[in-house]
Parts: sequence; C-alpha cells; structure tokens
Amino acid sequence: MQEKIIILDFGSQTTQLIGRRVRELGEYCEIVPYNKFPYDDPSVIGVILSGSPFSVYDEKAFRTDLSRLRSHLPVLGICYGAQFIAYTSGGSVEPAPSREYGRAHLSSIDNENPLMQNIPVGSQVWMSHGDTITSIPDGFRTIASTDKVRIAAYQVEGENTWGVHPEVFHSEHGTQLLRNFVVDICGGKLDWTAESFIESTVRSLREQLGDDKVVLGLSGGVDSSVAAVLLNRAIGKNLTCIFVDHGMLRKNEFRNVLNDYECLGLNVIGVDASAKFFSELEGVTEPERKRKIIGKGFIDVFDEEAHKIEDVKWLAQGTIYPDCIESLSITGTTIKSHHNVGGLPEKMNLKLCEPLRLLFKDEVRSVGRQLGMPEHLIKRHPFPGPGLAVRILGDITPEKVRILQDADDIFIQGLRDWDLYDKVWQAGAILLPVQSVGVMGDERTYERAIALRAVTSTDAMTADWAHLPYDFMAKVSNDIINKVRGVNRVCYDISSKPPATIEWE
Ligand code: XMP
Repeated sequence: MQEKIIILDFGSQTTQLIGRRVRELGEYCEIVPYNKFPYDDPSVIGVILSGSPFSVYDEKAFRTDLSRLRSHLPVLGICYGAQFIAYTSGGSVEPAPSREYGRAHLSSIDNENPLMQNIPVGSQVWMSHGDTITSIPDGFRTIASTDKVRIAAYQVEGENTWGVHPEVFHSEHGTQLLRNFVVDICGGKLDWTAESFIESTVRSLREQLGDDKVVLGLSGGVDSSVAAVLLNRAIGKNLTCIFVDHGMLRKNEFRNVLNDYECLGLNVIGVDASAKFFSELEGVTEPERKRKIIGKGFIDVFDEEAHKIEDVKWLAQGTIYPDCIESLSITGTTIKSHHNVGGLPEKMNLKLCEPLRLLFKDEVRSVGRQLGMPEHLIKRHPFPGPGLAVRILGDITPEKVRILQDADDIFIQGLRDWDLYDKVWQAGAILLPVQSVGVMGDERTYERAIALRAVTSTDAMTADWAHLPYDFMAKVSNDIINKVRGVNRVCYDISSKPPATIEWE
C-alpha cells in the first residue's frame, strides 16, 4: 500500500505548493478539503494543516474537529493551521502589526525538538499571515521565535502535534522542516518515485481496463503525450490515439508531432480537419466565439473518429492533479475545476480513465523521462487548445495563419538556437489587427505588425515578461521583417500577468 501524508486544505493559495514540496521530498501526499479527512484510509502516516485566507476568529473561518486526528497521527499546522490548533485549545491569536508580516529571521530555536533539527538560528522565514499567536495554552511549548514573534513554532507536549507560523514554501529551511516532519516524525519512507508510480499505475491500468479498447485525444502537449505512452505500456494496441489538426497549430507541428508519436510506438490516427475549421471560423472576430467553434468542432471530429473504432469502452485523458484538486473558494463553497477536454466525456458516453490525475506537472515530466520520451516533447512549452486562433486578433484566414506560423517559427527556433527556450515558460507571436507604414528599398510599405510574447512563470497563474537579451531581439525582429512577407514591424510585449494575461485573446 502506498503510504501517504494528507494535507487538509483550509483555502490558502500555498496549499498546492506544500503538496509539491512533500512530493519533491519523495513522499506521496494528497490534498483534501479541511473537513474531509479520510478516516478509513489506513495508509495515512501524518497530517498537515494548510494556511487560510481567514483569521481564526473570523465568522466564516473554516473549522473542523481535530481531536481524533491529534490522538492518532502526527499533525503539523502551518500558518492558519498552527493558529487554529492553538486558538481552539485555548490560546489567543491577534492581528499582527504590519512590520511583523513578511520576511523575518528565527532568533531562537529549540534544536532538541525533532521538528527543528538542522534548522540554524538566523535562518530566514516568511510570515505570510496577518495574525500571530500571542499566547499558547498550558501544555504547549514554544520551540522557535523571531525577534518580533515569540511563538513562531510550538509543540503540544505529550502529543505528536506541532504548529509553525512561517509559511514553509518560501522560508529558507522550509524543506528541511517538512523533511523533519515527514521522515523523522511520521516515519515516511520516501518511496514515491517516477519508477514506482509507473510500475503501480501500469499494474492497476491492466486490472482496470482488461481487454477493453481505449481512445485518447493527443494535443502535442506534455500531459496527453505522457498519458498515451503510459497507457501504451499498459495495454499496447488496445489504445488508439487521435490527433486532430484544426489548422491553427504551429508551423509543421502536425507532421512533426505525428512523427514523434509514431516513433514512440503509439497507435495514432492523425486527422487533418483544417478545412472544416477554416470554413466555420470565417468572418468570426469575437474571441469567445472562436474558442467555442474550435471546442465544438474538435469534439465532433474526435467523436466521429472514435466511433470508427469498434467496441471502444474508455476515453482516456491527460488530466493532472492541479485540474482535479477541489479548491475552496473564499465563500466556502467547493469548486471543482476540471477542464481538460471540456465537454468530451459528456458527449461520448464512455468510461473515463485518467492515469495522471494524481500528478503535479513536474512529476508528469519525470514520468515521461522515465518512460523514455524525448526531451523536446517533455519540455515543450504550453500551447492553448485553440492554438493560433487566439493569437490572430480579429478574423482568421489561411493567409494570416501562414504569416503568423512563419513569424512564430523564427521566434521559437531563435529561442532554441540561443539556448533560451528552456528559460522561459511560454513564448509565441501574435498577429495584430493593424497595418502601419514602413519603407523597404525605395518603396513605402503598408503592412502588418507582429507582437512577440515570452513570459516566465511557475504555474501560468501569474507571469512576468521574459527579459530576453537585446541582441537576440534585434536578430529575431530583423529575421521576421526580412523573411516573412507581409510584416514590416515587430513589437515586444512587456506586460505582466496580472493585470494582463499571457494570451492576447
Ligand atoms: P492566460 O492567457 O489566461 O493563459 O494568462 C494561461 C495559460 O492557459 C493557456 N490558455 C489556454 N489553454 N485553451 C487552452 O487549452 C484556451 O482557451 C486557453 N487560453 C489560454 C495559455 O496559453 C497559458 O498557458
């Protein structure tokens, strides 16, 4: 049985980051809503309580009874989690003066305490909650302080229960503290590796699917590709992959990616449906309408192809963990965002198989590597489902797609040549709906403008524009203007997200 840590989610934005850190240590963990602890799961070895946007004394604060947990399992409360344990045991929590918020340093530490092993005095911590614990009940012992916050960490005596005020993800020795909890306190064996995941998943896929036929939609992206290779290992030719070209892919992408898939031994059908999409998109300028047409068109083409396969029972998807985690909104309702191939499962009436649904993105990449997939597939930048359709502002024509593909190709190839591709999260060109005056030779021109966008990010929720070298930009803009007919101006987008988004539409 795969041992695990459970993270109770009290709604903080850093809950997923805690999960990632625990997995990076090599310990399997799952994130569940604060009030849904799986009491009947014997594989749980410890519990972490996350932070929260609320204060413990807030009327709307998330509350749950921890007594059963505290008497059976090691418990670590972080930020709100720590305040919640202290407050509900009779301690007090108060708003901190603003200077106690943010960066701080641990000034005294009880290094005898198992949670505090190998954490040096002076190490930097990040206090992300606006409240602090100002007194702890009898039986609680302070085990770390900063200059301004006396109770930065505590243990409940006679119990395997701890609380820490600082956030672990951004604190200097946060990973060490998590390791102390997971390994020394919970006895975690750190047995979660890409190899062990592949072995157990292949086994369970074989049990789950038997001799059934499975169909999977490939997009060229990392998630669906890794899901396909994993399923291929489990059930071989009973898996049929379908890769639809809606005509809005990057230059030569359809052929190249299809070729990659065939080299990986996948049973894949490539469907060139670009004519259908061009005709349905003709004259359409509204961004959401473009998305809807492409989404629906994709489902129709996929459905038609899938039904040519006799006796197909399952639809497989590359859904990953961040798509599935039930996150808590500030109003207390649970939202489930599950947007992989919107609408496909409902339409097809097939059973759903999602072998990556418990993995974070970096784990999907490790699994892909372990499965022997080529690096260029694994490190591919994210690319929106509707493709270049949302990067051509205004209506779409085959000529505009050709211009954008050529410009985009020069930009992306340039990033690879200059060793910059892996340093940015995502990059692409955008065709603007303006023409401007230029001069070429003795002629005045009146041609199109291209915007280039490259961003750094860790999860696409926020992003900064990539500070690419001027020499690189000079070369790329020159090449685009000289080689792509119809373009006489190149701009670079220097907006961050928020308030801008990564895509322009
Ligand atoms: P934004 O533009 O919202 O994008 O900052 C965040 C991430 O999502 C991708 N994106 C999409 N992906 N269908 C997709 O599959 C879409 O309609 C879509 N719109 C944006 C975007 O490329 C970025 O990685």
